Amino acid sequence: MRLRSLLFVPGDRPDRMEKALGLEADALILDLEDAVAIQAKPAARKNTADFLRSAKRGSRLFVRVNPLDSGLIDEDLAVVLDAKPDALVLPKAEGAASVAALAARAPGIPILPIATETPAAIFELGSYRDVRHLVLGLTWGAEDLPAAIGAVSSREEDGRYTPPYEMLRSLTLFGAHAAGVEAIETVYPAFRDLGGLAAYARRARRDGFTGMMAIHPAQLSVINAAFTPTADELAEAQAIVDAFAENPGKAVLNFNGKMIDTPHLKQARRLLALAETPSP
Ligand code: COA
Ligand code: MG
Repeated sequence: MRLRSLLFVPGDRPDRMEKALGLEADALILDLEDAVAIQAKPAARKNTADFLRSAKRGSRLFVRVNPLDSGLIDEDLAVVLDAKPDALVLPKAEGAASVAALAARAPGIPILPIATETPAAIFELGSYRDVRHLVLGLTWGAEDLPAAIGAVSSREEDGRYTPPYEMLRSLTLFGAHAAGVEAIETVYPAFRDLGGLAAYARRARRDGFTGMMAIHPAQLSVINAAFTPTADELAEAQAIVDAFAENPGKAVLNFNGKMIDTPHLKQARRLLALAETPSP
């Protein structure tokens, strides 16, 4: 099943969880961490567990627990694990060791680490391949690390990431592919700016991300479209596969005046396979 769009829903908003079920998100991330004030955590855990038990599962249902060192995660797990979330999102993850620590407490549940939220996390981005059987993907965040290191912002005035955060995005992308798991782009916070979102999500797919997190329902159709190959892309991919099939024994071809060779064939096959993977 494809994982193009993952919508955050605050754990203390059961009304929004119900609404979100009817939307086109491939997964919901029911949040117990930053979207929930400390006083609201107990109610959020209960709402989340109740929802997991009662919801008709169209979208996959993930839960973002609190960080391993928060003093809150034991209670999160005690309340939600029995209700069988499809995956756990681990904020402030710090590499393979943190995944193994969570997996030991939540056996059999796949983990999606948010892998760039502390300074130490950055030096662990290559380690997830050691726990590839425990993680379903890798994602990153651009908001928590600046706060952790006393930086003013992760963005230039025009909205582009500054060089340190472009680097984290790239390391997450390659860390995910090195582990052979989904590479999930981080949220686009300006949720009224759908044009900006479309460009951001297209750039993510161009670069090799396979899906993206969302914070608002209006973002879902834009994200799903960006991570779905267009008819033109599919036609070109098919033409490339056909061209190689018609020229057995040739590894390099003239394709409408452009050289194509093995990587192009691999890319074309990958795109065609992607189009055949069902979405929920
Ligand atoms: N999930 C489900 N429904 C949502 C939603 C979400 N994340 N965000 C908004 N909606 C619904 C609202 O309930 C509202 O529904 P209605 O028209 O039936 O009343 C509709 O979408 C429009 O909402 P809108 O008024 O545009 O947004 P808002 O100002 O109420 O909320 C946010 C804006 C950012 C607070 C809200 O989108 C949100 O909480 N997002 C998730 C934040 C989060 O979890 N962050 C942590 C990870 S970064
Ligand atoms: Mg956060």
